[in-house]
Amino acid sequence: MILRYDINLLLSIILSLIYIILNSMKFAGRHIISMKDFSREEIDYILKKAEALEPFARGKGKGSDLLAGKILATLFYEPSTRTRLSFETAMKRLGGDVISIVSTEASSAAKGETLTDTLRVIGGYADAIVLRHSREGAARMAAEISDIPIINAGDGAGHHPTQTLLDLYTIRREGHLEDLSIALIGDLKYGRTVHSLAYALSLYGAEINLVSPEQLRIPLDIKNDLKKRGANVVETAKLSDVISDMDVLYVTRIQKERFPDPSEYHEVVGTYRISTETLRNAKEDMIIMHPLPKADEIDKDVDYTKHARYFKQAFYGIPVRMAILRLVLGDAQ
Ligand code: NCD
Repeated sequence: MILRYDINLLLSIILSLIYIILNSMKFAGRHIISMKDFSREEIDYILKKAEALEPFARGKGKGSDLLAGKILATLFYEPSTRTRLSFETAMKRLGGDVISIVSTEASSAAKGETLTDTLRVIGGYADAIVLRHSREGAARMAAEISDIPIINAGDGAGHHPTQTLLDLYTIRREGHLEDLSIALIGDLKYGRTVHSLAYALSLYGAEINLVSPEQLRIPLDIKNDLKKRGANVVETAKLSDVISDMDVLYVTRIQKERFPDPSEYHEVVGTYRISTETLRNAKEDMIIMHPLPKADEIDKDVDYTKHARYFKQAFYGIPVRMAILRLVLGDAQ
């Protein structure tokens, strides 16, 4: 009698666990707003999907029609090359279609239409929206009112989750995510790519070295969040103190467009410039990443070293965004 009771209890625990796992892995129809909303298991799952799609991303084989009949709207109210074009390429490589707004001036926003109205209208045209906006929190707000999935392609100085997924894919593909020591360098205040990346890295037990001038340190709320998540964070202004231990240098552009006062920008521009000289004490297999575009923070000579991975990294945006679209828009897991 007691044994039967125990077995029933055990069965119900196992069933609830399976239910929790299956539900937490549900991507169909989901908004992609911030890395804070993702578990490590979910991230690993997306990266695995991306790996399986990589041959299609390279245009190999007869192509794919996994998303035939689906339409993606890309709404970009801030400049973009890689993010918009790689989403559009990813969609087309999966047999889907794309409609696009490429700037505020080219849309009814220039006539005073609110973002809310635009989103409501596009909700009737497309199956998902990729949104880039200058306002922090814009994607979260969009998700609250949209009937179709919103994918955040950058909200001001906030977050850029799909860049992080391709960054993690690059680290795994070109190096290792386990036992990782990484330096996030440059504009940690306004750089949305590093905000998202730091949140995700905290799930992998990485040693995160935050290298920036005093004025561009990571916002305090993010630093506190990272600590709460048990992240191993070290802050320094000197790259030379840490470079020899690093597996990855993640270099960022000073986000000129986000400085309220141009004189503050001029104070910090050129603070970190990676040259072949900087790399003298680096590990043989250390890799350099950058979300791009790069301004002058990496010398051209560095492009030709064995360390440079930023152009490959930009390519990996295709398989990763294919995986994201497939999961969000697909009927199956
Ligand atoms: C980044 C961005 O827009 O935040 N670019 C990108 O999406 N690859 C980085 C930047 O603009 O510096």
